[in-house]
Amino acid sequence: MELPYAEPFRIKMVEHIYPSTRQQREEWIRQAKYNLFNLRSQQVFVDLLTDSGTGAMSDHQWAELMLGDESYAGASSYYKLKQAIKEIFGFEYFLPTHQGRAAENVLFSVLVKEGDIVPGNSHFDTTKGHIEFRKAQAIDCTIDEAFDTDIEHPFKGNVDPNKLEDVLKKYNDKIRFIIVTLTNNTAGGQPVSLENLRQVRQLADKYGKLVVYDSARFAENAYFIKMREAQYKDWSIRDIVKEMFSLADAMTMSSKKDGIVNIGGFIGFRDRELFRQATVFNIMFEGFVTYGGMAGRDMNALARGLHESTELDYLQYRMRQVAYLGQQLVDYGIPVQKPFGGHAIFIDARKFLPHVPKEEFQAQTLALELYKEAGVRGVEIGTLLADRDPVTGENRYPKLEFVRLAIPRRVYTDNHIDYVATALKNIFDRRHEINHGYRIIYEAPILRHFTVELEPVE
Ligand code: F0G
Repeated sequence: MELPYAEPFRIKMVEHIYPSTRQQREEWIRQAKYNLFNLRSQQVFVDLLTDSGTGAMSDHQWAELMLGDESYAGASSYYKLKQAIKEIFGFEYFLPTHQGRAAENVLFSVLVKEGDIVPGNSHFDTTKGHIEFRKAQAIDCTIDEAFDTDIEHPFKGNVDPNKLEDVLKKYNDKIRFIIVTLTNNTAGGQPVSLENLRQVRQLADKYGKLVVYDSARFAENAYFIKMREAQYKDWSIRDIVKEMFSLADAMTMSSKKDGIVNIGGFIGFRDRELFRQATVFNIMFEGFVTYGGMAGRDMNALARGLHESTELDYLQYRMRQVAYLGQQLVDYGIPVQKPFGGHAIFIDARKFLPHVPKEEFQAQTLALELYKEAGVRGVEIGTLLADRDPVTGENRYPKLEFVRLAIPRRVYTDNHIDYVATALKNIFDRRHEINHGYRIIYEAPILRHFTVELEPVE
């Protein structure tokens, strides 16, 4: 008999989580103004809010914490991380930051000014936020296939070279760089192919632009390349990663994802001059060059984490678990983004809850149902997240209205996954009874989803 799959690790430490009753959850979510970010973690049973900073570090990473060098300048931990970044990404220069959006803030302080245009593939919300905050504009050039959840395209994260070239032609003098997000989180954790990265590089060279990668889930992207892009099937993950980054000028990194640490980020640079310009802002916003927002011990754990996340057996475990959830939902007939993403399953809320008007936030409504049903916390990637148009003040209705179930790295077992899938099936079975959503009673002018307050529409 063929042996079944088993995880390439065992558990050395456990963390208690808290079951609750439906009645308790209905009260808690009312108090939280129907915003899942306002819940206390102990009011949640299975927390799939994000895969960011929620992973479990390995015994080797915990051991690295003890070896951290907390010197203000020149810490050995800085050099350990510098070495790992050089080895894995091939970048000579780097700046540590406290997380990914801090890397964006520092780099964009150099690269983005008022009136600029920044083309990319579905910029993440903080990326777009940092662009729009500087009165510049992000233009999405993702391929059209990404916006139909039923199309099975192996690289739905790809940039459409025609759309990109049109933008480059039209706004040439307003564009300093192109940003490519690996994997494309907003489109459903979808990868970008190496062929596509090469096309982006060629266009950037043709128009004299820089290429920056938003690299939060670079290792998952590399795994998809190995699995889906025939010519790389025999390449190691490390070699694929090297090849990917050989086509970029700089990277921003949220280390809380594929760095498998709880906090941290960095910027990688090929060019010394750009590094020097960014250094000024890093010292102002983050900290001195050799720690920039990170403790020495955390830099050590990150150096180790970057190596672990680029191991094939780790990535096989990771992607199998995400797909295990996706497949159960598909078997129940639940509409999800296909193929399955790298870090999360994205439920198509428009198809799941067709009776809820879009003005009443379909994805948020589904995410709230899931919490009330089973204490499972996902997150809305839809109209709330899309904010209002900065010019017209109108709600922006994105092409896709998702509930994202992000799987933390090395944290939950397949039994937790079964629990989540069953909860969703129960809601799916009674979806025709759900006709109303929510209305906003408070919202902030930017990144409103974090602090929005809602009430049910009766
Ligand atoms: N880029 C991408 C693609 C991201 O997914 C995130 C964060 C960031 C940048 C910002 O990094 O959180 O370290 O400041 N994504 C998290 C998520 C929050 O849940 O997807 P950060």
